[in-house]
Amino acid sequence: MKKVTLSLLFVIIVFALQLNIAFAQPQQENKMGKTSDVLLPTPPMGWNSWNHFHRNINEKLIMGEADAMVASGMKDAGYEYVNLDDCWMALQRDKDGNLQSDPERFPHGIKYLSDYVHKKGLKLGVYSSAGTKTCAGWPASLDHEQADAKMFAKWGVDYLKYDNCNNEGRPAISRYTKMKNALDASGRQIVFSICEWGSNNPWQWAPTLGGLWRTTGDISDNWNSMIQILDEQVGLNTFASKGHWNDPDMLEVGNGGMTNTEYVTHFSLWCILAAPLITGNDLRNMSDNTHDILTNKEVIAIDQDPAAKEGYKLTSNGDREVWVKPLADGSWAVLLLNRGDQGCFMTMKIQDLDIKKAGTYTVRNLWSHKEEQRADGLVRADVAPHGVQMFKVTAQN
Ligand code: GLA
Repeated sequence: MKKVTLSLLFVIIVFALQLNIAFAQPQQENKMGKTSDVLLPTPPMGWNSWNHFHRNINEKLIMGEADAMVASGMKDAGYEYVNLDDCWMALQRDKDGNLQSDPERFPHGIKYLSDYVHKKGLKLGVYSSAGTKTCAGWPASLDHEQADAKMFAKWGVDYLKYDNCNNEGRPAISRYTKMKNALDASGRQIVFSICEWGSNNPWQWAPTLGGLWRTTGDISDNWNSMIQILDEQVGLNTFASKGHWNDPDMLEVGNGGMTNTEYVTHFSLWCILAAPLITGNDLRNMSDNTHDILTNKEVIAIDQDPAAKEGYKLTSNGDREVWVKPLADGSWAVLLLNRGDQGCFMTMKIQDLDIKKAGTYTVRNLWSHKEEQRADGLVRADVAPHGVQMFKVTAQN
């Protein structure tokens, strides 16, 4: 009898140990390797200082942008990161070799800023480079990875954009891996935004390191730059997945160099691409047009769709292109793009999508918010020069 009890006890102990191992392992993996999956199940949304303000940033401005993110309804539309780009740091590290913020422009330091944005339910991002200096020539993090990541964590930073200037010709993968490991060891979950400009095919190695990686050089606020970046995204969609996003660079919507139609195109394309939606305009002074583009919830929902699939170019015919994106509920986003200087009429066949066969499809225009039932299996629309029409197509019974 005693023997039976002992054996039973032994079996229970072994079982409990196994259970513990089974539960402990995923937790550990979560902590070490899955930060981006947890932080970015969908592409990040926020604001960054570079495209509009370049070097001219200070604490007051950043706090004002955070205020405006809330007051303008951007926060309600899903935007949450308030990101400092280059030039927030002092020109010298402190006496212990630590990065410090510029004493005049950021007199209260970065922790003060992160406390401020956190109180608003937002998150704070900073910028550095995997080089000896940032692109604008300020101190950067190469060979200071551990100390800098610890400092970012101590300051309550939530997001690091990590650039590629002044890298001394050292291999990119090892430079970015060092910072990834330093962030993992920092004690804080920090989004790692790899900004290596697509120079070393980052889509092949960056998904194991970061939450997003730039695929191209810098965007400029004009049609040609935006459309050239679009062309460079072809073929990259299969590298994106939940927690790991191709980054075709930040938005220029509202900065003044494109027409309103072109900005609608820019924003729609970035959403079809499941791109990070990091706005780069002055949120404190937005026109109604800019506001309406950036807060169009139906278009944002395409970007943020939980299926976490990047869209792709389905067909192209001269200036006319059809871009599509599969969605979690079985429907598809369809975007008709007219790159030409003349308006045109475009048609696409719904049967060309991998969508449920149906006699009728609901075709909802995501900009006019009107929908129609189509029994002819077609999506068709007039498309303005440099314009798009964007739809959600859903099979009916
Ligand atoms: C590089 C980056 C830009 C911006 C600047 C800042 O050019 O690609 O996005 O961060 O540096 O100097």
